[in-house]
Amino acid sequence: MRISVFGCGYLGAVHAACMTRLGHEVVGIDVLPEQVAALERGEAPFFEPGLPDLLLEGKASGRLTFSTDPAAAAEATVHFLCVGTPQKRGENAADLTYVRAALEALLPLLKAGDVVVGKSTVPVGTAEELAERIREVQPDAELIWNPEFLREGFAVKDTLHPDRLVYGFAESPAAREAVAKLDEVYAVALGEGTPKIEADLATAQLVKVAANSFLATKISFINAMAELCEATGADVTLLADAIGHDARIGRKFLNAGVGFGGGCLPKDIRAFMARAGELGVDQALTFLREVDSINMRRRVRMVDLAREVSGGSIVGRQVAVLGAAFKPDSDDVRDSPALSVAAQMQLQGARVTVTDPKAIDNAAKKWPELNFADTVEDAVRDADVVLLLTEWPEYVALDPVELATHVRERRIIDGRNCLDPVAWRAAGWHYRALGRP
Ligand code: UDX
Repeated sequence: MRISVFGCGYLGAVHAACMTRLGHEVVGIDVLPEQVAALERGEAPFFEPGLPDLLLEGKASGRLTFSTDPAAAAEATVHFLCVGTPQKRGENAADLTYVRAALEALLPLLKAGDVVVGKSTVPVGTAEELAERIREVQPDAELIWNPEFLREGFAVKDTLHPDRLVYGFAESPAAREAVAKLDEVYAVALGEGTPKIEADLATAQLVKVAANSFLATKISFINAMAELCEATGADVTLLADAIGHDARIGRKFLNAGVGFGGGCLPKDIRAFMARAGELGVDQALTFLREVDSINMRRRVRMVDLAREVSGGSIVGRQVAVLGAAFKPDSDDVRDSPALSVAAQMQLQGARVTVTDPKAIDNAAKKWPELNFADTVEDAVRDADVVLLLTEWPEYVALDPVELATHVRERRIIDGRNCLDPVAWRAAGWHYRALGRP
């Protein structure tokens, strides 16, 4: 199949590279010349395991190109919309500027029989608006809403072997032809038995935000339990293990700590609440306000705990922060709990040094007032307290005996409940965690 992908960020770049791996001929379109130039050289503009190899493979095959010129998409028959829908400045709602602009760039190129496939996370009702616009310009093209569920860090695997494929469309003979074309695009995954759910447009759009709301709720649920554990001396990790054995609950996404961040969960639940308000059903999602508040309270608690551990004040204290990315295996610092805590502590008078295996460049661009170190040793040198805020495997594997030789005071707060308290205490550390005695 000849495919175009509009938007070459985290979602689109991975999607384009993966579609080439599946044997298709792909052109990726993006408005950022630097992004396109890097991808054209076969370089990933962000850290994502497996992506560099796929890009090089795609370039070598001659079936993967990138361009800033939408006209390069003219030969494609299936066009994926993969642009971002960030949170509007000062508002909860999603900003649809890029989705609408991408569609407008694509419209003049659309031929009869073409399929536009929406993958961006949008407020329910957006797809209907885009479908109407397509009908006005090219009535013989179809729109299918096909939300993307990839996780950063596992984006290549999630794209090549998705949990499920959701197709949203308005039933018609032409839509059936479009579905057949999309089936051809996903022939490998469908051949592996990936479940396919056909739905109306509204349901397909809702699936994505409902899934992310559920995940965010699960994390905030266990973080609320962590607050109870802190008040009672209970251990939230044991609690999560014990309730997680109930198959109806499940242990996944019950890791208590400094909470969720990233480019998706926080802004998606806020945009969902905003949309529910517009639809007159805001009460249905009032609980998400609480999910958001519980999540933000964890960051405050982390700063309070650091103050407590430091003897009542963090002013002038040397604080080492391990982790800047919103989660391991990513260089993404969007709404990163780690950086939010680091910045708060700096603002309150601490001297903060942050390290991260991959995200320092992105973090320094966003938070130039923080100090950054390339290595853990440099970050923790003479530290009064160490905060572990992103559970990179190399941090989980740190040797407490060795690390103790670099710090001024052996105090560590495990913001992700990923260290062994026994081993750290045995090495003379004052170990504290969120939701653990
Ligand atoms: C999420 C969804 O998982 C994905 O399906 C969707 O397509 C995009 O949004 P992502 O943002 O890449 O993916 O990260 P995810 O792995 O979901 O983690 C989100 C945040 O939750 C991270 O900050 C992570 O540290 C935090 N988290 C996750 C917890 O605090 N506890 C957990 O148990 C799990």
